[in-house]
Amino acid sequence: MEHVAVSPWVALAYLVSGVLFILALRGLSSPATSRAGNRYGMIGMTIAVATTLLTHEIASLPEILVALAIGGGIGFVIARKIAMTDMPQLVAAFHSLVGLAAVLVGLAAYLNPGAFGIMLPDGQINPVSRIELGLGIAIGAITFSGSVIAFLKLAGKMSGSPILLPGRHVLNLGTLIAIVGLVAYFTQDQSAWVIATITVLSFIIGFLLIIPIGGADMPVVVSMLNSYSGWAAAAMGFTLHNTAMIVTGALVGSSGAILSYIMCKAMNRGFLAVIAGGFGAEAAAGGGAAKEQRPWKRGSAEDAAYMMKEAENVIIIPGYGMAVSQAQHALREMGDVLKKEGVNVKYAIHPVAGRMPGHMNVLLAEANVPYDEVFELEDINSEFAQADVAFIIGANDVVNPAAKTDKSSPIYGMPVFDVDKAKTIFFVKRSMGGVGYAGVDNDVFYMDQTMMLLADAKKMVEDIVKALQH
Ligand code: TAP
Repeated sequence: MEHVAVSPWVALAYLVSGVLFILALRGLSSPATSRAGNRYGMIGMTIAVATTLLTHEIASLPEILVALAIGGGIGFVIARKIAMTDMPQLVAAFHSLVGLAAVLVGLAAYLNPGAFGIMLPDGQINPVSRIELGLGIAIGAITFSGSVIAFLKLAGKMSGSPILLPGRHVLNLGTLIAIVGLVAYFTQDQSAWVIATITVLSFIIGFLLIIPIGGADMPVVVSMLNSYSGWAAAAMGFTLHNTAMIVTGALVGSSGAILSYIMCKAMNRGFLAVIAGGFGAEAAAGGGAAKEQRPWKRGSAEDAAYMMKEAENVIIIPGYGMAVSQAQHALREMGDVLKKEGVNVKYAIHPVAGRMPGHMNVLLAEANVPYDEVFELEDINSEFAQADVAFIIGANDVVNPAAKTDKSSPIYGMPVFDVDKAKTIFFVKRSMGGVGYAGVDNDVFYMDQTMMLLADAKKMVEDIVKALQH
């Protein structure tokens, strides 16, 4: 049991890294402190990894260096190449690796309990460790197969619409109960078939749990899987007697759970309803319903420049399309010119605008938009009634009034910006046909006060800036 007796220096180093991780999370909660937060996290992780490498004879140094070079190299290349908008699927793919790692560590500990310090003198695995092992493998396997499905759906390699198996609730509940029962039984009987069945059933349930969940709920799923991957790591931390893993896993597990809850609230969806799945099935089945031909008005960059220059209050609502076209720098320039003209410019950010939490905040921060001009949904929604212009750029679902009025809409219940209260609306998108993530038409296009600015977001904003400067 040599791993149980941890040297006080190791315990202290892990404690320091745990505190640094908490400071990292604290820092990341605001754009102003997020750089410092990131730094705390990096220092904490360096201390944790270095301590583990120095004190545990897990493998020879060359082996570790080769593994680090391969993994680090692949991570480096992917991080350099990945587009910001593809981040959610990348995160899902990474979670699958955390899950798989937990399964592999668990199976290694099962096969070689002596090396992991979990073997009793009679050669049996310590019963408490068997619970940790069983749960760690189960959560890890669920995280793995669930994340693979989430990745495939988000990357568009598999239909985003829910796949509903008949009797799925009974099937899922039965499988989950069987897994919990087998983990309990594992404390009595450590035969290979028990752990093998737990592993296989958990892989299956991860798959079954995620296929019925529709695309619109995927952000919550990714964050939920993030939480699961944390709990899987924490469970493995117990098996490995590694406090740093327990602390980090618990931090990831709980922050992922809190984020899932916040996102559910932002979309007005019950957490259990998301887990139960099936959301978005109607929209998928209806194929988006035939679109009516309704009159709409087309505006130009000059119209937008003129109206905004004359305005007192302009609220900009960025969305996914701004990210795709990388319009944030041009947008900040437009804001600067308007401010010089004495216009009061504010940015309104919906919690699920774009394709990942904080997506818009990151892009606006990158373009040096001052933090005090950026507002959350609940802080700014009442101001649309006083706004002269609502400038919607690449956002769609987050301004769709159907969320408030149309019970049959897949986004019904999601809180949205009250853009319809603004005197004038400019709606930047590329075509009338293009729909948002949820695949539904938007009444705002056809409102009396709306002018459609059909173009690539960046190009349109650059044209507006030019028109403003004339
Ligand atoms: P969306 O509803 O997805 O709408 C994007 C809009 O951008 C579309 O109207 C599209 O129309 C336009 N667009 C795309 N490329 C453009 C370009 N180059 N230039 C100009 N316009 C462009 O965006 P949203 O309002 O940000 O809503 C987010 C949606 O994503 C929500 O349904 C949310 O639930 C979901 N979601 C969110 C997350 C998170 S956590 N943020 C993660 C996954 C999914 P055209 O094609 O006509 O240009």
